[in-house]
Amino acid sequence: MKKSFNIAVLAGDGIGPEVMQEAIKVLHALEEKSGIAFHFNEALIGAAAIDATGDPLPPATLEACLEADAVLFGAIGDPKYDNAPDLKVRPEQGLLGLRKALGLYANLRPVVCYPALVQASPLREEIVSGTDLLIIRELISGIYFGQPRGRSEDGNTAFDSCVYHRDEIERIAHLAFGYAKGRRGKLTLVDKANVLATSRLWRETVTAMAPSYPEVQFETLFVDNAAMKLIQQPTAFDVVLTGNLFGDILSDEASVITGSLGTLASASVGIETSLFEPVHGSYPQAAGQNRANPMAMVLSAAMLLESLGLTAEAGHIRQAVDAAIQAQVMTEDLMQGKASTTEVGDFIARYISERAMTSNF
Ligand code: IPM
Ligand code: MG
Repeated sequence: MKKSFNIAVLAGDGIGPEVMQEAIKVLHALEEKSGIAFHFNEALIGAAAIDATGDPLPPATLEACLEADAVLFGAIGDPKYDNAPDLKVRPEQGLLGLRKALGLYANLRPVVCYPALVQASPLREEIVSGTDLLIIRELISGIYFGQPRGRSEDGNTAFDSCVYHRDEIERIAHLAFGYAKGRRGKLTLVDKANVLATSRLWRETVTAMAPSYPEVQFETLFVDNAAMKLIQQPTAFDVVLTGNLFGDILSDEASVITGSLGTLASASVGIETSLFEPVHGSYPQAAGQNRANPMAMVLSAAMLLESLGLTAEAGHIRQAVDAAIQAQVMTEDLMQGKASTTEVGDFIARYISERAMTSNF
């Protein structure tokens, strides 16, 4: 089995570098005990890259990602670029360009309600308890990338195009049926087929595939109805498959169920490589203050390890995060936690080192 891995590290903006530092700390703790070596190759992305090079996705960054076994990504976005509609270069272009260039077609966002955090949710315990769902969002097509897009000559009309090809839908639907098979055997396609032509193609294509997966119970739901049901009865969902924009919105909504965006990790499965990032953004209000929750970043690193076949090591990270929650070593976003970013990272890394000595993994 391979013992050495190259990881491209794109910390990005805002709290990105702080939470990334904790994820690297945790990976170092694993390295020391497991004999696995990680080679970290840091590269610029987003506002940090614009400031340094003028380009939100410098060629060297793309090269580092293409050479890597996997990419670990922090966060992107800076308020100084948010309210300037005339800007030609935006930090977000770095992430969107990277997704496209690496062919990261499926974004997997698991939403799990930890028993110890059930009180952190704004929803009642009997609603959220037992939630364990996986949102699979199409990531490199749809209205995010469709052409034509832009403004009319007089500047008074703007337009975006939502475009999907049957092949793109089939590719991600196979992945989603596969995940549903390995979980509780339920797949919900979320669309707006009562209005949109692209949604009707999704529904036709995925419905036609369903008989090939007889062990999966397949259903369809309109996105407005799904938005409501996610909050009313989140335990009714297992795997949710949806397009780019609906997935963006529903995954933020679903994060509320767990009480904090600060614990949610994601994986973007790609053709060239895969990328792992927290669902939260760059949270500029907290940047540089050592108070952001590093758990989502650390759990993204666990998903990265799983993708490399390092499931035991990933399991140790998950155990250590659970232990931090049990011990109430949590940042302020979780039930008035008192710990800082670095304290949470230190606890998780130390737990891994100490456990490793006794369990000899
Ligand atoms: C996400 C983010 C991005 C998206 C932004 C930063 C472009 O909201 O990863 O969900 O809309 O995809
Ligand atoms: Mg989003």
